[in-house]
Amino acid sequence: MPAQAARARVGASRVGAAREGTSRLGAACEGAAQVGAVSTILGSCLPTCGEGHTRKPRVRPPPAYTHLTMPGIVLVGAQWGDEGKGKVTDLLAERADAVVRFQGGNNAGHTIVRGRQTFKLHLIPSGILHKNTLCVIGNGVVVDPKVLTDELDELRRRRVDTRSLRISANAHLIMPYHMMLDHAGEAKLGKLQIGTTRRGIGPCYADKAARLGIRVQDLLDEKILKKKIVAALEPKRLSLRPFAKDPRLDLQTITEEYLTYGHRMANYIADTVRLVHERLDAGQTVVFEGAQGALLDIDHGTYPFVTSSNPVAGAACVGAGVGPKDIDEVWGVIKAYGTRVGAGPFPTELDGDLADEIRERGGEYGTTTGRARRVGWIDLVALRYAAQINSLTALAVMKLDVLSGFDRLCVCTRYRGPEGAEFDDFPYHQTMLHHVTGEYVDLPGWSEDLTEVREESDLPAAARDYLQFISDFVGVPIALIGVGPGREEVIWTEAGAGMAGSGKAASAAA
Ligand code: IMP
Repeated sequence: MPAQAARARVGASRVGAAREGTSRLGAACEGAAQVGAVSTILGSCLPTCGEGHTRKPRVRPPPAYTHLTMPGIVLVGAQWGDEGKGKVTDLLAERADAVVRFQGGNNAGHTIVRGRQTFKLHLIPSGILHKNTLCVIGNGVVVDPKVLTDELDELRRRRVDTRSLRISANAHLIMPYHMMLDHAGEAKLGKLQIGTTRRGIGPCYADKAARLGIRVQDLLDEKILKKKIVAALEPKRLSLRPFAKDPRLDLQTITEEYLTYGHRMANYIADTVRLVHERLDAGQTVVFEGAQGALLDIDHGTYPFVTSSNPVAGAACVGAGVGPKDIDEVWGVIKAYGTRVGAGPFPTELDGDLADEIRERGGEYGTTTGRARRVGWIDLVALRYAAQINSLTALAVMKLDVLSGFDRLCVCTRYRGPEGAEFDDFPYHQTMLHHVTGEYVDLPGWSEDLTEVREESDLPAAARDYLQFISDFVGVPIALIGVGPGREEVIWTEAGAGMAGSGKAASAAA
């Protein structure tokens, strides 16, 4: 079928899905009514969204999943990163035809546990573990070629077939001087430092914006590569003075090193925009995999304590080369509690024994840097904001098992400023964000171990109420629940299970 005809068919089916979605508003309202049910159980300690808060919960029709209505699914972190996106991508990749990373670089760390094997990926999309899934590093990603080639070597050593990887020729490269500038920039900021991963992410995106970046395609032409490195180094002379004698800054050394990487990457370099559109045109399922999280977004996050790219869903379009109409679903991955790495506001942050306990139980140490993560209660003010700026259609709630054993769980539903002002919405002002504290609703905890649970109905009532409260408050249905680190340790909810007929399997059957 010609591409346009195929796309027209997909487009028509989306209209149907939208209509069906509208008729499901009733179902979402039913959900809202259950907030009242939870509050009845808990009595007066629990203000309902309708009574205790001036703002009504967001109500969105739940998504309709059929294989034709969700060829384009974006997966983003809806908190401060480290939500478990790798595991969810791995699960979706099994049913997908392609997985595309669209922003960030090796500041990300995605952990996938397969039986007794643990894979830690920083750049290569988590779909690589599925043999027939096309894996794309999109144009919006910044690529450290050393990390990429090391990751390829490691995967091959572990007998993972990497032939399905493609790297956008337009992706920008992290150069040795970007890492030096990242280190130097943080040192200069002293107490005000952002706590970056020091992987050169910010300086690389800065060069991209300044049109001084080196792209993957430049690795294939020695003359161009050298010329571009000279041009990029020139305005950085002053900032790089402390590294003047560093051999890594020698023009010939950089050029030779990067040409070697280019040689090793050559077979993977491609026009990835075309590859992605071919799949979408054929009605195949493409997962767009985000890195970091919405609150680290350079435009919408807690600036300046953010990363230098846009981890929100809209960036999937720019970073992969598709249009908004190519996206059918947006899944927000969250943890059942909150974590943050690096500096910056974190209104629900905990300290002391409780924080230590959650950190230890959840293994909250960075995949990339090994840093201990800050931990806190779940923040629904921030999550509702993330749902808005991403157009979330479903939530994947990970690490619910970590919360077993607490008598009560706190859920932040509002912020309070230092002078008593109340914030139902995420404050836009940096000063305010730094000083607000969370106001909480207490929910009963549960003692049962959840790691063996595979059906939503087998969860303890308190765990179901906890999830329902989150979903109702944010106005987004839950599709998937994580109850352990393994890929099989998940619960597909009714909404999520509808996906079973999607992607590869459905395409093969058609
Ligand atoms: P950068 O992305 O290395 O420039 O770091 C900027 C901020 O984003 C720092 O606070 C980092 O800790 C944070 N950050 C970057 N990548 C991740 C991630 O994958 N997970 C969590 N935090 C991240």
